Amino acid sequence: MSATVRTCVGDEVRALLPALAELRVRIFADYPYLYEGDEASEREYLKVYAESEGAIVVVAEDDGAIVGASTGLPLAHEPETLRAPFVAAGLDVGSIFYGGESVLSPSHRGQRIYGRFLAAREGHARDHGFSTLTFCAVQRPADHPARPPGYVPLDAVWQHFGYVPRPDLRATMRWRDHGEPEETEKPMTFWTKAL
Ligand SMILES: CC(C)(COP(=O)(O)OP(=O)(O)OC[C@H]1O[C@@H](n2cnc3c(N)ncnc32)[C@H](O)[C@@H]1OP(=O)(O)O)[C@@H](O)C(=O)NCCC(=O)NCCS
Repeated sequence: MSATVRTCVGDEVRALLPALAELRVRIFADYPYLYEGDEASEREYLKVYAESEGAIVVVAEDDGAIVGASTGLPLAHEPETLRAPFVAAGLDVGSIFYGGESVLSPSHRGQRIYGRFLAAREGHARDHGFSTLTFCAVQRPADHPARPPGYVPLDAVWQHFGYVPRPDLRATMRWRDHGEPEETEKPMTFWTKAL
């Protein structure tokens, strides 16, 4: 199966919200995110990508179906918890573009789509005057009980695409893991790339 990749902004994104919400809930249910999400809340959360100036959603489509997406928006439009580490490090939040999430259906992985997602997101950020792209990923302990046998972290992939881990930038996010009664705080690792 081969997918096409296109960049969407504004109202184009609004039309995609149900498909994006479904994709996020499905893909982030897996390790390492283990996210217990529901599509109604996801649709609300995702509206920011339709409404925020400078936001972008890159989508992969196959035979009319959305099979993957990569989102981004100016870091300045993200909540304080995500901006704070950059402010504390003396970095200029206004020059940084934040990559929200990249998700691809397992059926379409290994087809070099991720590089196209990242290139589109980086090109958009560059065109809008940003000099750095960042995203963050959850840190799970190596002996986490839900880690599937043979699980390979994406660190080498992110390095392959020119991103560097930033242990100096620390933040946490809260969500409810599958099978857990309430939300817990997760440490996140930021990665950055100079554009
Ligand atoms: C993240 C995700 C979208 C990536 O999609 P993918 O199909 O697995 O990635 P691709 O195969 O398109 O790209 C992987 C790239 O890394 C390279 N790569 C893979 N393993 C590598 C390694 N060990 N060292 C160096 N490069 C490596 C591949 O060659 C490829 O690069 P290329 O296109 O230049 O050849 C997908 O795995 C996913 O949805 N994961 C779950 C959600 C998630 O964790 N998202 C990221 C955080 S938000």
